[in-house]
Amino acid sequence: MSMNTNAVSGFSKLSKEEKINWIANEYFAQPTKAVATIKQYWNSDAKLQQLHDEFIENTITNFYLPLGIAPNFLINGRYYSVPMVIEESSVVAAAAKAAKFWSTRGGFKTMVLNTEKIGQVHFLFKGTTAQLQSFFDKTKDALLAATENITKNMQKRGGGILSLELRDKTAELPHYYQLHATFETKDSMGANFINSCLEQLAKSLKEAALHYADFSSAEKDLTVVMSILSNYVPNCIVRAEVSCKVEELAEKKIENPQEFAEKLVQAVRIAEIEPFRAVTHNKGIMNGVDAVVLATGNDFRAVEAGVHAYASRCGRYSSLSHAQIENGIFTFWVEIPLALGTVGGLTSLHPLVKMALEILGKPSASELMQVVAATGLAQNFAALRSLTTTGIQEGHMKMHLNNILNQYQATADERKTIAAYFEKHTVSHASVVELIEKLRK
Ligand code: MEV
Repeated sequence: MSMNTNAVSGFSKLSKEEKINWIANEYFAQPTKAVATIKQYWNSDAKLQQLHDEFIENTITNFYLPLGIAPNFLINGRYYSVPMVIEESSVVAAAAKAAKFWSTRGGFKTMVLNTEKIGQVHFLFKGTTAQLQSFFDKTKDALLAATENITKNMQKRGGGILSLELRDKTAELPHYYQLHATFETKDSMGANFINSCLEQLAKSLKEAALHYADFSSAEKDLTVVMSILSNYVPNCIVRAEVSCKVEELAEKKIENPQEFAEKLVQAVRIAEIEPFRAVTHNKGIMNGVDAVVLATGNDFRAVEAGVHAYASRCGRYSSLSHAQIENGIFTFWVEIPLALGTVGGLTSLHPLVKMALEILGKPSASELMQVVAATGLAQNFAALRSLTTTGIQEGHMKMHLNNILNQYQATADERKTIAAYFEKHTVSHASVVELIEKLRK
């Protein structure tokens, strides 16, 4: 049975110390120990700690995730060391291995296909579509002009509002219309910019309707439901590809490259037609994508939502990557929507994000999209390679061995013996525990 779970009012008004004490007393049998654990993760540099405290509300401590580096990513002829933030043991190792593999086979070829973002004002209108269209046609320029204060800086950087249209959605929901806007936000992810533009458009729309002489009083009373960007960005796509002659796939563990290539293509075909497999297949891609997105301070929830919507765009959830063998050439590629930024947000605030971007050579948002897509493809290749050859558990459990040893607080001597044993045996949780227990008898 759990301990007290009392509601609390005014939690956000408590000091940090008071919040910690409340949590410790409320949820832990040994509050002093809980407080010590929470504080163990504070940074000794008070200013740095304050910076992190202020990223969100109600901060009590920091939550560490490892930042690792996958080196040797040859992308469009240039080497990158890719910073990755992730907790899963085998991901960085797999990315690094795939990067190295492809670096001797021409590397990754990447290309940004487009960079358009989308935002919508969702509103209700009680008149006819024809009336609204006529009003919109007459007011559109004024609506756009009213955003100029917000858009002028973005315009200087080559961005801004690209288009604005009225969309009739009344067939699906009575009285429902949209202002559907597209944006170019250059090196910023653009969420704040887009939302500010949309809120201004919504305000101007409402005001213009109120003063529009041809509307009845019911029609003048246009209801703005909400104004928000869309995280579905099917026109903000990056492509990453690797390719080589089938026989060039040969290496230590790929003795028969033709068989390997065919099996890998088959594995991709399965993910293309079978949603249960596609989700896991794409999860593997997202292992790479999310890790770089996180390391560079980008919004991984936005990326996840957009990517999976894109994977379902044809009405059935499907693979984001594709593979083929044609004229003896193996080609493997991915196309994904990525709305990323390299300015704004956390990019200049979080010291490690700043560092990650420096490691990547201070990329533009387009360049970062390409690095992220290449990392996703590398991850997918590594997973498919394991799955179609040795099975996933060999590499995964090898990396996970350390976690199990840490869990059992293995000593240096125990680690040495165990490592030597598992050089020749398959790692499983049970077999590691069994060996630890045997050693401790
Ligand atoms: C594990 O995090 C990711 C994989 O399941 C991906 C895949 O199955 O392709 C190995």
